Amino acid sequence: TISGKVENLLSKMTLEEKVGQMAQITLDVVTNGPNRYASDEPVILNNESLEKAILKYKVGSILNTANNRARTPQVWHQIIGEIQKTALKAKNKIPVIYGIDAVHGTTYTAGATMFPQQIGQAATRNRELVYKGAEITAYETRASAIPWNFGPVLDLGNDPRFSRQWETFGEDPYLIEQLGLQMVKGMEGDNISNPYRVASSLKHFLGYQSAFSGKDRTPAFISEQALREYHLPAFKAAIDAGAKTVMINSGLINGIPVHADYQILTRLLRDELGFKGVVVTDWGDIENLHTRDRIASTHKEAIMKAINAGIDMSMIAYEYERFCDNLIALVKEEKVKMSRIDEAVSRILTLKYELGLFEKPIYPLKDYTKFGSKEFEQAAYDAAAESITLLKNEKNSLPLNKTRKVLITGPNANSMRTLNGGWTYSWQGEKVEEFSAKYNTILKAFQNKIGIQNVSYYPGVTYKNDGKYFEEYKDQFEETLKAANSADVILLCLGENSYTESPGNLSDLYLSDLQTELALKLAATGKPIILVLNEGRPRLISKFAHLMPAIIQTYLPGNFGGDALADIVFGDVNPSGKLPYNYPKFPNSVVTYNHKPSESRTVMAGVYNYDADYNPQFEFGHGLSYTTFEYSNLKLSQERIKSTGEITVSIEVKNTGKREGKESVELYLTDVYASITPDVKRLKGFTKISLKPGETKKVEFLITPKEMAFVGIDNKSIVEPGEFKINIASQTKSFFVE
Ligand code: IFM
Repeated sequence: TISGKVENLLSKMTLEEKVGQMAQITLDVVTNGPNRYASDEPVILNNESLEKAILKYKVGSILNTANNRARTPQVWHQIIGEIQKTALKAKNKIPVIYGIDAVHGTTYTAGATMFPQQIGQAATRNRELVYKGAEITAYETRASAIPWNFGPVLDLGNDPRFSRQWETFGEDPYLIEQLGLQMVKGMEGDNISNPYRVASSLKHFLGYQSAFSGKDRTPAFISEQALREYHLPAFKAAIDAGAKTVMINSGLINGIPVHADYQILTRLLRDELGFKGVVVTDWGDIENLHTRDRIASTHKEAIMKAINAGIDMSMIAYEYERFCDNLIALVKEEKVKMSRIDEAVSRILTLKYELGLFEKPIYPLKDYTKFGSKEFEQAAYDAAAESITLLKNEKNSLPLNKTRKVLITGPNANSMRTLNGGWTYSWQGEKVEEFSAKYNTILKAFQNKIGIQNVSYYPGVTYKNDGKYFEEYKDQFEETLKAANSADVILLCLGENSYTESPGNLSDLYLSDLQTELALKLAATGKPIILVLNEGRPRLISKFAHLMPAIIQTYLPGNFGGDALADIVFGDVNPSGKLPYNYPKFPNSVVTYNHKPSESRTVMAGVYNYDADYNPQFEFGHGLSYTTFEYSNLKLSQERIKSTGEITVSIEVKNTGKREGKESVELYLTDVYASITPDVKRLKGFTKISLKPGETKKVEFLITPKEMAFVGIDNKSIVEPGEFKINIASQTKSFFVE
């Protein structure tokens, strides 16, 4: 058995070997630096640094790519092949485990299939598509000789000010839980020793993305009740489904850095959730306990605190010697128990055995004939097409007739980088253009669709792309306005440049002044505008949204976003995406859809004339279609149940329009009165169906105690008696828990 093998191996290992297994370094530590450029040129490993890390310090894990740049699968095989060969020279022949951030496709592999980012995948509401995307990503990651993926992101994306909201499934705990589960299953399958599967890493445990300032890695203040109610469910479900690893939140919660929080890392994650896999830090986060968070006055103390709190592997990145030497000393001084080391190393070795790395650290490249195939590309296109969300369509201005003359403009009109966002062939997406050249930008997709003669293009505004992610300049601005006069319709492509971690921090959520000016001046020409948003989070558009007859949110749709958008705009595909967050209207009205009743404007009227102004630009779940759906016959199997009981809910949905269309049928539940103020409503079921014109389908949902429960005052889950309201589209019904 694997546990027998682990025990046997562990008994033969020295303390130095064990500590090395707990260390993870970045590839740049063992390469010769940026001396190689093309993606198919071999990466030159520095033998001396490699042998020092792997043989002297016995480092057990490596991450990332050399020089922040994608490589072909062949080059990956060469790099990781050499690393594994070096590892085999050691007495115990323990393979290295390699990891990367394949969050919407295999980030650092040239030719890999790029899906919409998670925020767009959440808009599809389509479990199968999310599963398929994860399965393909696992295939292409393993095809790159990499068996470990740092994803899915299960953070609660409830704050558009936070720079990484696009990496999440949005603001709803149930949606995150359901789609996160699909991603874990798609990546890991039934058995991660399968050559087409990888180990996943649930991140960032727990409470990342909810920083008070809205900025990356700044402090969060979250009560235990809220942590359990909103942040925990997705992690719990994925852990119950067998997810193999967890990565930790880089920030602080209530003043305690999570990397040193015994309550979260051990009491909650291990003792309560029963997680058996590997816990890895985020980048340099043990060092941060000393250098940034100042809960440790030395590096050594930081290591002691993190390891004793429950960290198994440190993503050190660079200075691994300091980590290893200090941890060895801490064990010798009995400040870290040997049993803690054995526990961590057993988990790491178990993972390596489960992945089959001891028998076959790398499968031959010839086993991966589907890499970058048409079949995989089709899945990425399908996900993009189902993610795109039609937010506004005044007077049925869409779909467009293919004979219309279109002016395409805006900084996002002709960029593969903005379509993909971060973690695409490079960290912040800086190098996308080079690797995505064969795919279609929005401009190219429109030219392909209706012919070059029907499309004119002026950027109007362009991103500087010189390392300052949000700096823009006017680019043929006046020419753009002039060109509007000879167009029938304007496709205005606004949004954000790509970014991943800190460059996405903003001090203003409004779209930039230059983009706003372009929108206002184009609107003044009187020509109809289709506003296309291509952005990682909802940037405020309230200064001009009312002037736009049609608005489409594309999120970060990946390499096929341009094609999918063109198909939707011209009616070859009927849009079916639904917002995974509330799109705020004003900077001071960032409120989620599942808010407390006091966020609503009428609640205290007459007493204080209080007006909290719940007034999103577009609400969570909003998304239009070119057809219409009618909901009827909402039925409940019972109207009175015990708190342990279940109810089957059914509803009929009819396509009453003239086109075939897909619809996500969404069930919301409201606990009318509860001992903790209940949310106004909570998503508790969704199913995506496809209906032909005139067709009716019946959809069923099961409401169990899990859906009815909330986290009570004592931080335990409870179902309280009283009235519950079910709402599906226009239909509402109550039931009572006795
Ligand atoms: O996995 C990531 C994490 O999400 C952010 N910091 C770096 C890690 C490794 O690249």
